[in-house]
Amino acid sequence: MKRVLVVGSGGREHAIVAGLAKSPQKPEVICAPGNAGTGTIAENVLIKADDINGLLSFAIERKVDLTIVGPEAPLCDGIVDRFRAKKQRVFGPTAAAACIEGDKAYAKKLMGIANIPTAEARVFDHYESARDYISTRETGVVVKAAGLAAGKGVFVCKDPAEALLVVEQLMVQRSLGEAGVKVVVEELIKGPELSIFAVVQGQTILVLDSAQDHKALGEGDTGPNTGGMGAYSPAPIATPEVLAFVEREVLVPIVDAMRNDGAEFSGLLYCGLMLTPGGPKVLEFNCRFGDPETQAVLARLDSDLLELFEAAVDGKLEEIETRWSPKPSVCVVMASAGYPGKYEIGCAISGLGGAAELEGVSVYHAGTKSGPGYVVTAGGRVLGVTALGDTVADAQQRAYAAVDRISFKGAYYRRDIGYRAITTTGGASS
Ligand code: AMP
Ligand code: GLY
Repeated sequence: MKRVLVVGSGGREHAIVAGLAKSPQKPEVICAPGNAGTGTIAENVLIKADDINGLLSFAIERKVDLTIVGPEAPLCDGIVDRFRAKKQRVFGPTAAAACIEGDKAYAKKLMGIANIPTAEARVFDHYESARDYISTRETGVVVKAAGLAAGKGVFVCKDPAEALLVVEQLMVQRSLGEAGVKVVVEELIKGPELSIFAVVQGQTILVLDSAQDHKALGEGDTGPNTGGMGAYSPAPIATPEVLAFVEREVLVPIVDAMRNDGAEFSGLLYCGLMLTPGGPKVLEFNCRFGDPETQAVLARLDSDLLELFEAAVDGKLEEIETRWSPKPSVCVVMASAGYPGKYEIGCAISGLGGAAELEGVSVYHAGTKSGPGYVVTAGGRVLGVTALGDTVADAQQRAYAAVDRISFKGAYYRRDIGYRAITTTGGASS
């Protein structure tokens, strides 16, 4: 029996574990450290996702056949390099390749070299130069901390005055520590957003079905950005033309540019795009699956997820064809009151069983922990309640029927996840 280790503890990892558990190969699945949800279908081991030494010793001792790394931090810290040096099969990019997410200045440089459409940007590592540059601008700008900031490093500023305050906080006050020592100041662009996931191995690129997330905390996509308050798949704005453009003008050139730079990418390349009036433009690359898009995308995967990961790791990706459910999915994130700021944990969650009984519904756990006989909240984003439906409107209705059965103190969620797809398609399935 194959033994697979999934590293991480979020909704993304629960969705990956659930996908692996459905594999006809019936692997033994282990999750480190996992959450209450992964614990019901896999073995949870108490090793943190950033404890690379602990994970490596565990994988060797327990003779793990394949490790899949969920979060960006261990990837940027070189978990894949360490595993490979010990001949452990692992899905994910090396530390050098993970810089495509871990260093936004590097990502911008490569996009420039490869002529990839993206917002115009300047990189600064001195506060005075950033300040002088922003003072010459007349419109809004976007300020991005160059380093990893757990989704909190991007500031969309309506005017230069606001941007000046942000760079002062990042570069002088060091509000995000080392992550904000270097900043990217970017032209503010407008349009609907799209997330594209591609499994990459060498020069082979396999694009998965599309998704769109709702990053903003408030309904109507208002308020501060979060890690993501919900997602749906497929994204109607990802037309065949858009997908062909992204593959030709973005994915192929970035993969080539990384290889030429000695940072060949393997693993999951996430491309965040904005469809501007001037065509699709890249907002960011991530070196791992998105969360909560993964919950929405993998809920629709009908082919073997384990086979896909193994093919990528073994250089056989071109032999793989993925199959997707024609049914769209909607994933609603239930969060703790106060997220993305301070929030309480340890609140009992009720109704999980009743929600999961509903047809087409999967409840993916994120910040949850098993309490004595019940499940408690343990993070900002608590659950990703996901449903398939005949149309986006149907999937949305099913997801909210499940959400209505679940309760915990201070549960916060948006009531409108998927509305963009419903307005675009009138609720049609594609
Ligand atoms: P990122 O993590 O770089 O994708 O940025 C987070 C969010 O900030 C994106 O999903 C966009 O909503 C917004 N954003 C990032 N860059 C820009 C930009 N150049 N113009 C307008 N909005 C942006
Ligand atoms: N949902 C956005 C991300 O995973 O970065």
